[in-house]
Amino acid sequence: MKLIARRTLLAAALTLPAFTALAAPLTMGFSQVGAESEWRTANSASIKSAAKEAGITLKFADAQQKQENQVKAIRSYIAQKVDVIAFSPVVESGWDTVLKEAKTAGIPVILTDRAVKVADPSLYVTFIGSDFVEEGRKAAKWLLERAAKTPNASLNIVELQGTVGSAPAIDRKKGFEEVIKTNPKLQIIRSQSGEFTRAKGKEVMESFLKQRDKKIDVLYAHNDDMAIGAIQAIEEAGLKPGVDIVIISIDGVRGAFEAMKAGKLNVTVECNPLLGPQLMQLAKDVVAKKPIEKRITVTEGVFPAEVAAKELPNRKY
Ligand code: AHR
Repeated sequence: MKLIARRTLLAAALTLPAFTALAAPLTMGFSQVGAESEWRTANSASIKSAAKEAGITLKFADAQQKQENQVKAIRSYIAQKVDVIAFSPVVESGWDTVLKEAKTAGIPVILTDRAVKVADPSLYVTFIGSDFVEEGRKAAKWLLERAAKTPNASLNIVELQGTVGSAPAIDRKKGFEEVIKTNPKLQIIRSQSGEFTRAKGKEVMESFLKQRDKKIDVLYAHNDDMAIGAIQAIEEAGLKPGVDIVIISIDGVRGAFEAMKAGKLNVTVECNPLLGPQLMQLAKDVVAKKPIEKRITVTEGVFPAEVAAKELPNRKY
């Protein structure tokens, strides 16, 4: 009996240091784009609550849509020797230097939501987020189907782009154009950035509406917030959003479902912001040096106005 007890104690003593090292909470430095949209608010909340749930110490910084703030945050996480850095890059380019600094310091980097364009892909471990090109395609496919009901009609489209130089703005434009060019009756007559915000979406839509040379039939907004801002501009111009102007947007936030229920928005393409739990698991796997896929995508749907009332109670963001 005594011998067994002593052996058990010895085994426990031998495994204790290793166990203590494993149990030390992992620290993640996260640089967020900003708080520009309902989507972003849901994304930040998901990351914060998932970190808590996973027992990860989170250092979170809001960059207010400025790349220089993100670079500063990443440098401070390197100086603080965090275990892993994650960030959602405001724009695609200009990251090589700071990511090399992270690599030299031996800190793994995970991209979330938005991609970067870097010469050396080993500067980040993995990228988890939506396929923005596919979202643009889905938006355009919905429009093609609708346009097929009136095959002789030409449709003038105005486009509210996201933040200039950001992955979702570049990719959603690309995917949409790729599909609509298959129908020459569909033409983008104006396209400008509304910076992913309601205020700017409204302002740009007002300026589109003031240029009276061509009738606007369709609005394609790269996110729901800009569409919601534009809806206000359309109403103030005495027109009926969703009827006089067909409105297509991306994200699938509650605000969009409410607008669809009210008949003011025609369709939203889902972009899931609830990336927190997957990100925390990835961080643990990366630190544990498990094999990781370079690209992890999210499965998403398309919600036309007809299903809005039924779907609204199920929306989590
Ligand atoms: O990167 C995702 C995009 O950023 C969302 O579509 C938009 O709402 C957000 O601001």
